[in-house]
Amino acid sequence: MALPTALQKLRIPAVASPMFIVSNPELVIAQCTSGIVGSFPSLNARPQEQLGQWLDGIKEALQKYDAAHPDRPSAPFAVNLIVHKSNERLEEDLADVVAHEVPIVITSLGAREDVNEAIHAYGGIVLHDVINNRFARKAIEKGADGLIAVAAGAGGHAGTQSPFALVREIREWFDGPLVLSGAIAHGSSLLAAVASGADLGYIGSAFIATNEANAVDEYKNMIVDSAAADIVYSDLFTGVHGNYLRGSIESSGLDPDNLDSSDPSAMNFGGGGDSVGGAKAWKDVWGSGQGISSVKAVGPASELVDRLEGEYVEARERLAAL
Ligand SMILES: Cc1cc2nc3c(=O)[nH]c(=O)nc-3n(C[C@H](O)[C@H](O)[C@H](O)COP(=O)(O)O)c2cc1C
Repeated sequence: MALPTALQKLRIPAVASPMFIVSNPELVIAQCTSGIVGSFPSLNARPQEQLGQWLDGIKEALQKYDAAHPDRPSAPFAVNLIVHKSNERLEEDLADVVAHEVPIVITSLGAREDVNEAIHAYGGIVLHDVINNRFARKAIEKGADGLIAVAAGAGGHAGTQSPFALVREIREWFDGPLVLSGAIAHGSSLLAAVASGADLGYIGSAFIATNEANAVDEYKNMIVDSAAADIVYSDLFTGVHGNYLRGSIESSGLDPDNLDSSDPSAMNFGGGGDSVGGAKAWKDVWGSGQGISSVKAVGPASELVDRLEGEYVEARERLAAL
């Protein structure tokens, strides 16, 4: 199946993933003007009234950029909606997304037909993120256009399945847009995602170590200094399993090797994360995927996209020469 127009003509086949607190308009604009899809969770715009302003600002900046660079226009942007019953803002955020005709909407933690229909009505596309084949089928049944397969090693809420297994299981029945998420921070890994059967790769943690990201310097530096062994998988902080930086758990006074399990009924995705032993998920306990050893320095997001493209092209050439 041909990819929807919004996902074609990217500089490299990549979507920058939405990251709670971290993704702001500055980062999204830098991602899109660098030629890849940029995104942010609607909940990052606080209070709710700010969401419309963020959307106006992003659209205006991209239009201005496109007018100045007709030869290499920006990539489209995406907004992430948390479709969980605890998200009290969903209806208002959806209304803003519809009013601004956001080109791509990423839905997480719940698939709802009426949400998909509202986005389709203005010509937007919906990508739903899933951690297994069962949720993938459900999302497509409910009307999502495409899937984001969140495999083991992804930053934030992550699955446990191998990307190879997950992509193959989904590709057995689904030939629509498929984005693979989890520990992609190098251009060769992006090519591997495409080789495995995905159309695009989903890249999050590497963008934390950029100038534009809304993260304290300690967080950015910890991404640069850490590797896969420094990532801890736990459900303690939000009620859903996710990957976090060991150093930030320690700094919060908790023992990363002896974390309790959480009570899933306490899940709440409408606010700013739960407080565990005085430490707040996302704000104090920092999310990250396993791929960050490829991140060697903090710099502009455009330089990260340049690096990814260079590595992607080099990997293609290496394979072509085999
Ligand atoms: C700090 C952080 C916050 C995140 N917040 C969200 C979020 O609010 N919504 C969402 O759909 N995904 C969120 N994610 C998950 C990403 O969308 C994506 O699956 C992940 O970043 C990809 O793996 P990588 O970080 O290894 O590149 C978050 C990830 C991180 C690292």
